[in-house]
Amino acid sequence: MMEDQIKIFDTTLRDGEQSPGFSMNQDEKLRLALQLERLKADVIEAGFPIASEGDFNTVHEISKHIKESTVAALCRTTLKDIDRAAESLEPAAHPRIHTFIATSDIHMKYKLKKSREEVLESAVKAVEHAKKFCDEIEFSAEDASRSDPEFLYEIFTAVIEAGAQVINVPDTVGYALPWEYGELIGNIRKNISNIDQATISVHCHNDLGLAVANSLMAIRNGAEQIECTINGIGERAGNASLEEIAMAIATRNNNMAKKTNIVTEELVPASKLLTEITGNQVQPNKAIVGENAFAHEAGIHQHGVLNNPMTYEIMTPKSVGLTGNKIVLGKHSGRFALNKKLQELGYSLGKKELNQVYLQFTNLADEKKSVEEKELVALISKTLPQE
Ligand code: KIV
Ligand code: ZN
Repeated sequence: MMEDQIKIFDTTLRDGEQSPGFSMNQDEKLRLALQLERLKADVIEAGFPIASEGDFNTVHEISKHIKESTVAALCRTTLKDIDRAAESLEPAAHPRIHTFIATSDIHMKYKLKKSREEVLESAVKAVEHAKKFCDEIEFSAEDASRSDPEFLYEIFTAVIEAGAQVINVPDTVGYALPWEYGELIGNIRKNISNIDQATISVHCHNDLGLAVANSLMAIRNGAEQIECTINGIGERAGNASLEEIAMAIATRNNNMAKKTNIVTEELVPASKLLTEITGNQVQPNKAIVGENAFAHEAGIHQHGVLNNPMTYEIMTPKSVGLTGNKIVLGKHSGRFALNKKLQELGYSLGKKELNQVYLQFTNLADEKKSVEEKELVALISKTLPQE
C-alpha cells in the first residue's frame, strides 16, 4: 500500500509558547528544539522574531544548531517584520519565512481595519518580499475557517503565484467541525488552479477539543502538512497535539494510508522535557503522554493486559518511549494482578492465603487511592502468620 507522507510542522516554540505560563528562555528553547530534531519534526517554528529582542536571538541561535529540520520564523505581512524574520534565519541550513494575515471579515474589520483588496495586496507583497531572502515561504490566512471561501481561493491563488510553497489554513479559534473543515480543505484543493505548486497545511486550535480530529479530517481531504505542538500547548485551549497526531497516523495507517517521519519513541521524552522546562504537568488522562495513558487499575483490564497487553492497549508503551505499562493496585484491582505483584516481590501464596491478603488489601485500597509496594509487604506480614 502506498502511504502519503504527511509533514509535521511543530510550533511548540512559537504558538505553544504564546500561552500563559509557557514562556521559555533561549537555552530552554534550544534544548527543546534539539529534542524536536531528534523527534524528526520536519519543520520547527522557532519564534516570532519581531516580538522581542529575546525571540529574535533565540530564532537566530536555534537556526545555528538545527541541521536537519527546517527552521521557520513567523512574521506579519509588513516588510519590517519580514526583514527581521529573514535576519534571524540567516544561519539556518533550511530556513522558512512564515508570513500571515487575517482573511475573515471580522478580523479584517475590527483588527486590521483593512478591506479585502488591501489584505490581498499586503499578502502578495509580503510573499514577493520574503522571496528575496529565502526559497521557502509559507503563507497563512489567519482565521481561515471563518473566512469567505471564495476570498480564500483568491488570496491563496495569488500568493502561490507570488511564490509561496506552503499555504496554511488555520482554524485559529477552534471553531470548525471536522466535516466542515475537511470539506474546506477539499474545496481549496479543487478551486485553486495552481494548487499543484503548493503544499496545503492545516493549523487547528482546540477550543472545542476538535483540533486533532479536524487535522485528521484535513489530511483525508488533501492536506499534506499538520501544524501542532508537544502536549497540545498553545493559545487558550491549545493547538493540535503532535503526539496524538503522530500516533493516530502510526497506529491507524492501514486505514489512512498516511505516514510521518516522527520517531515515535521520542514522544514521551519530548513531553517530559517540555513539562520539566515549563513546570506545567499534563493531565493524567492525556492521550499518549499522560501518566495514565498506559496504566490499568480495574481488575478485568489488569487480567486481560497481564495475559496479552493488546486486550486493552492499542499501541505499545515502547512505541512512544516508555519502558512498559503500569499496573496500579487500587480498590478496583483483582486477585490476579495482586498475585502477580506479590510474585514480583518474591511471595508465592496459596489460594487461601491469597484470599486472606486480598481481603485486607481491598480494605486498605478502600481508604487509599492506590496501594504501594511497601504497604503490600507490611500487609503480608500483618495478615499471614510468620513461621
Ligand atoms: O492560529 C493561527 O491562526 C496562527 C497563525 C499565525 C498561523 O497561529
Ligand atoms: Zn495558532
